[in-house]
Amino acid sequence: MTVVTSPGKLILCGEHAVVYDRPAIALPLTQICAQVHVVDSPYGSGIMFDAPNLQRHWTLAEEPEDPASALVVHLLEHVGIARNGKTPDLHITITSDIPVAGGLGSGAAVATALLRAISTHLDCTLSREDVSKLVYESERHFHGTPSGIDNTVIAYEQPIWFCRSSAYSPWRTIPTQSMSASAEPHIQPIVIAGPLTLLIGDTGIRSETRLPVDAVRQRRERQILHYEALFDAIGAVVTRIRAALAEGNLAALGLLLNNNHLLLQQMGVSSTELDQLVDAARESGALGAKLSGGGWGGVMLALVELPQVKQVSKALLAAGAVQVYQTQIAPTTKS
Ligand code: PMV
Repeated sequence: MTVVTSPGKLILCGEHAVVYDRPAIALPLTQICAQVHVVDSPYGSGIMFDAPNLQRHWTLAEEPEDPASALVVHLLEHVGIARNGKTPDLHITITSDIPVAGGLGSGAAVATALLRAISTHLDCTLSREDVSKLVYESERHFHGTPSGIDNTVIAYEQPIWFCRSSAYSPWRTIPTQSMSASAEPHIQPIVIAGPLTLLIGDTGIRSETRLPVDAVRQRRERQILHYEALFDAIGAVVTRIRAALAEGNLAALGLLLNNNHLLLQQMGVSSTELDQLVDAARESGALGAKLSGGGWGGVMLALVELPQVKQVSKALLAAGAVQVYQTQIAPTTKS
């Protein structure tokens, strides 16, 4: 039996502008995970899936269009197994405690765990870059034009600076620590000087990412200069957030997160519920707060100091959060 777990993710800053080649910072979220178990099944039974959370059971042969089925076919082609004329006989069980369409990377985490579990079980080597690319292809097929930040942070499992295309970005940085010499997009690990405590408030409202992404695209077409200026302003905030993280300057970080939220509100991707949670976090002592992910629902994050965790969590629940997650981001170093 092979068991693989993949974390969720949290976009710290830069969402939406990242689709237009500005940088963003994302963090793996190890408190909530997707898990995939793979066992051999009887000869000739093909590939069977179980998703007990969703009360679903299906086979690859019956439902080849299902996203998990399609990803497995893509993987088997990639590693050259399906072309041998016979697919393996496997029983795959998928579970996840990451809310679906909540802005915490549920789809990318399930896809990553699926690829890793099957490749490990079949003894095939898949690099992190392979995993990230295969997950990106699958997200692109089902969700339009993702920037690639979700698959990247979940495949690499470390805090990252992400810029979709280093070739076109004015925010290009020198790739001193590139995870891959030829990496396009531009991906770097980031330095975090001290531990960060974040609270994540879930509005309970499920919103498909492509909806606010499409709305931003349409508005940008009508007001290109205004939207490009907003994206530039977000890019500048993300660059300053990177510096604040490297210096361990939590007060500056909080203000910059607030600033990023204001720019996202101006882009029209916040909502009354998200704003209520952001206000409640700030009023109860958070150093800063903003929506995280696509917006119009999903989650927000608040930067807090440990003594404030209880009171901010309580305030978030009182302001309508259906769930509050606490996460501690460990410091990272330059090496
Ligand atoms: O809703 P999420 O967590 O999948 O985040 C989407 C982030 C966007 O920048 C809005 C879109 C993208 O593809 O990067």
